[in-house]
Amino acid sequence: MGRDWVAWHEAYEDDDHPLRDRLAAVVELVGEAVAGARDGPVRLASLCAGDGRDVATALVDHPRRADVTARLVELDPALADAARRGLAAAGVAGTVVTGDAGDSAALADIVPVDVLLLCGVFGNVSDADVERTIAAVPSLCRAGATVIWTRHRRPPDLTPAIRRWFDAAGCRRIALRTGGDVGVRAWTVGAELVGVPTSDFQPAPLFRFREDLR
Ligand SMILES: C[S@@+](CC[C@H](N)C(=O)[O-])C[C@H]1O[C@@H](n2cnc3c(N)ncnc32)[C@H](O)[C@@H]1O
Repeated sequence: MGRDWVAWHEAYEDDDHPLRDRLAAVVELVGEAVAGARDGPVRLASLCAGDGRDVATALVDHPRRADVTARLVELDPALADAARRGLAAAGVAGTVVTGDAGDSAALADIVPVDVLLLCGVFGNVSDADVERTIAAVPSLCRAGATVIWTRHRRPPDLTPAIRRWFDAAGCRRIALRTGGDVGVRAWTVGAELVGVPTSDFQPAPLFRFREDLR
């Protein structure tokens, strides 16, 4: 049976859960990314968006909220519905696609984006898929875009490799936050500035969630 991702989100309601701090870091970095985006329209995409509370919380009172068009992609219909309600309540324009974010075709009509969220993805897919997704970043983003990513640090810690793969994709680190330093709950949130894109967009497989990774 697949994982209950609706239940996973309940951690956000628990004041003592480290995921709350991870969320706060993501929200802050999304706000900064939108504030620092080029003048004019800002395209934001979130893959495996869950209930989209990171985007809604970051933008509800953001001075550039009206510039943003969001594309959230989430497989679970209940979470996608929650994300639609959350974006509407926050006054954020855009669409929530109920579908597979593991293929970049889900972004075909919105690339290149200015802000890309890869949150809650890298801990659920193979290392090879993490590397493939990061390698695709230059084809999904505009030069100067910000990519915000998360990953747990359970041994073996993949975050050093993740940082190397972003370097190889021509990105420059803007922020690296860590917390929840209690065993399995240790988290990392990173923000990367995308350099000059080196590849054109071609719809392609990025990742597939694995049930055996918990
Ligand atoms: C760990 S949660 C992260 C949610 C959100 N990004 C966050 O950080 O709060 C992973 C999410 O990915 C969704 N998901 C799993 N496989 C997916 C796929 N192939 N395409 C889109 N969403 C997927 C799950 O339903 C779940 O909501």
